[in-house]
Amino acid sequence: MTDRKLIVVDDEAGQRDLLSGFLSKKGYQVSAFGSGEEALEEYHKVFSPLALVDMKMPGMDGLELLRRLREMNPFIQVIVLTAFGSVETAVLAMRAGAFDYLTKPVEDLEELLLKLDKAAQQNRLVVEHQVMSERLAEAFPASEIIGESSAINKVKELISLVAPKDATVLVTGPSGTGKELVARAIHALSPRSDKRLVAINCSAFPETLLESELFGYEKGAFTGAEKTKQGRFELADGGTLFLDEIGEMPSSMQVKLLRVLEERKVQRLGSVKEIALDIRIIAATNRDLKDLVARGGFREDLFYRLNVIQIGLPTLKDRAGDILLLVEKFIGKYARKIGKEVVGVDAEAADLLANYSWPGNVRELENMIERAMVLTRSNRITRSDLTGLSAKETTTVVTGVILPLCDVEKRHIQFCLDQLNWNLGLCAEKLGIHRNTLRTKIKEYSLSKNPE
Ligand SMILES: Nc1ncnc2c1ncn2[C@@H]1O[C@H](COP(=O)(O)OP(=O)(O)OP(=O)(O)O)[C@@H](O)[C@H]1O
Ligand SMILES: [Mg+2]
Repeated sequence: MTDRKLIVVDDEAGQRDLLSGFLSKKGYQVSAFGSGEEALEEYHKVFSPLALVDMKMPGMDGLELLRRLREMNPFIQVIVLTAFGSVETAVLAMRAGAFDYLTKPVEDLEELLLKLDKAAQQNRLVVEHQVMSERLAEAFPASEIIGESSAINKVKELISLVAPKDATVLVTGPSGTGKELVARAIHALSPRSDKRLVAINCSAFPETLLESELFGYEKGAFTGAEKTKQGRFELADGGTLFLDEIGEMPSSMQVKLLRVLEERKVQRLGSVKEIALDIRIIAATNRDLKDLVARGGFREDLFYRLNVIQIGLPTLKDRAGDILLLVEKFIGKYARKIGKEVVGVDAEAADLLANYSWPGNVRELENMIERAMVLTRSNRITRSDLTGLSAKETTTVVTGVILPLCDVEKRHIQFCLDQLNWNLGLCAEKLGIHRNTLRTKIKEYSLSKNPE
C-alpha cells in the first residue's frame, strides 16, 4: 500500500535510526534523511503521503521543510517533532499546515503509530476529495454552471449527488438564478441523458391548453382536435419532464398532476387507454411553495410529492464572488456571437459590476453584458458601456446596499453630469442646487468627465 510510505527527517542520527527502525518493523516503508535539504532533493523519488519531521535542524529547519514538502505534494500529512516545552514551535507548525506534533524524545511509540494512522487516513480523505472535485469539474464543463463560491459549489455537489438517482427534484430560487440550467444539468448527468428532457412552462398556457399539452388527446376528443397528439408526459417517457414555474399551475391541474405522479400512468384526453410512464420529474419555481401551500394556493400533498429533494439557488448577490467569473464567460459567449474582439472589462467597470446588487440575478447580468458588448467601442468594456447599471446603481433604494450619504451624493452627481454631458447649468438646475455649489462639489469629490 502506498500510504505506508513515510519519510523521517531528523539531524540526530540516534533518534532517526530509532524511529525508522521501529516503523519499518511496523510495516512502514521508511526513507530516512539527515537534513531538510537532503529530504527535499530526494522527495520526488519517494513521494510519500506521510512525513515525520524534526523542527529544529541546522540549515533548513522543519518549518521550512514542511512548507516546501506541501508545495511539492499538497496532500502530504506531516507530523512534526518538537522539543519538550516548545509549544510555540508546535503552534507555528500546525499553522503552517502540519497534521499533528509529537514532543521529543518520542517515548510513547503507540501514540506515534496512532497519529501516523490518523495522518494516513487524512491523506486518503483529501486525495479522495480532490478526485471527487476533479470529477465534478469534468462533469460540469466550464461552459455550464459557472461559479466557485461555496454557495454554488454546494449546488453543484447536490446536482452530482441527485443526478444518478430517479428522485423527484424541486429547484427553487429567485428569477434568473439558473433554475432551468440546473434542471438541464441534472438530466444531462443522469442515466436518462440519452433520452429526452421535455420542458413545459406551466405559466405559459391557459388551464385547458395546459391539460391537453401535458396529457395529449385523441382525434375528435374536442372541437379542434383534428388529429391525435401525444402529451408531454408521454413524450418524456424514458427521460425527464421539467415542469417549470410549477407554482403557477392551476389547482385543477395540480390534482391531475398528483394522480400521474402517484400512478405513473396517463390517459390522453378522449381516450380510456392507460399509458404507463417511466419519467423523472424535475420541477422549478421562484415562488415560496410552502407559503403558497399555507395560503391555499398550492396543494400540500403535491408539494410533498415534488419536494423530495430541494435544490435552492442563491441570489447573485449572495455569491458576489462569482460575478466577474460570469462576466468573463458571457463576454466570451457574446464575443463569438457578435464577432467582436472584446477581452474583458476595465477596472472601473469591474468594480461597478462587482458591487451592484443584481435584483435580476444572472439573467440581468447576462443581458447587461450582451448590451455592453454591442455598445462598446474598445476591446474592454468600460463604465460608460454599462448604461442601465450606473443609473440604478446611484439609487440606494434599488441596490438595497446602504451607502454613506456622501457616497450617494458623489455617485449621483457623477451620474447626472454624465447623463447631461457635463452641462453644468442644466445639471445644477436638475439637481436643484446653485451652479457654484455644483462646482464646489465637483472639486470636493474630484469628479471628472468620463473619457469616452
Ligand atoms: N451559474 C451559472 N453559470 C452560467 N450561466 C448561468 C448560471 N446561472 C444562470 N445562468 C444563465 O442565466 C440565464 C438565466 O438562467 P435560467 O433561465 O436557468 O434562470 P431561472 O432561474 O430559470 O430564471 P426564471 O425564474 O426567470 O425562469 C441563462 O442564460 C443561464 O444560462
Ligand atoms: Mg426559468
